[in-house]
Amino acid sequence: MHIHAYEKLWLAASILLILLLIGSVTYGAVGPGVAMVADSEPTVNAQALDEDERFSEPRVERVGENEYAAYVVARQFGFQPDPIVLPANSTVTFYVTSADVIHGFEVVGTNANTMVVPGEVSELTVEVDGAEEYGLICNEYCGAGHHVMEGKVNVVS
Ligand code: CUA
Repeated sequence: MHIHAYEKLWLAASILLILLLIGSVTYGAVGPGVAMVADSEPTVNAQALDEDERFSEPRVERVGENEYAAYVVARQFGFQPDPIVLPANSTVTFYVTSADVIHGFEVVGTNANTMVVPGEVSELTVEVDGAEEYGLICNEYCGAGHHVMEGKVNVVS
């Protein structure tokens, strides 16, 4: 009789342990570790860029004394506008989005580099010096034409 009672106790204890184990595994799967708690909402409709104020006509726009905004669309397999023409000795903020899949936007030989995600707008600001021609490449694999996806950034004085 006493032995039987102990067995019940052990049985209960092992069931409790199993439940705790399952609980910890489940909690681990949904709990802290890496948990995204906030992200900006998609700021653009990738399927309707031609209706978007900023991206319907990819362009470089003067926004201040020596400041420019460049609205760039990446798509399989190129960039618009191409070339991106920038005035020398200026500050340029690029707003880059994608019309289809994830692309990269890298001005070759500079630290201007970002990932381009459909539905989101990547923003980066650069200081532009003298007249020069730069290559523009995609550095995220985006399909069969990835290796030929390139453009030009021409700084003109
Ligand atoms: Cu676009 Cu790789």
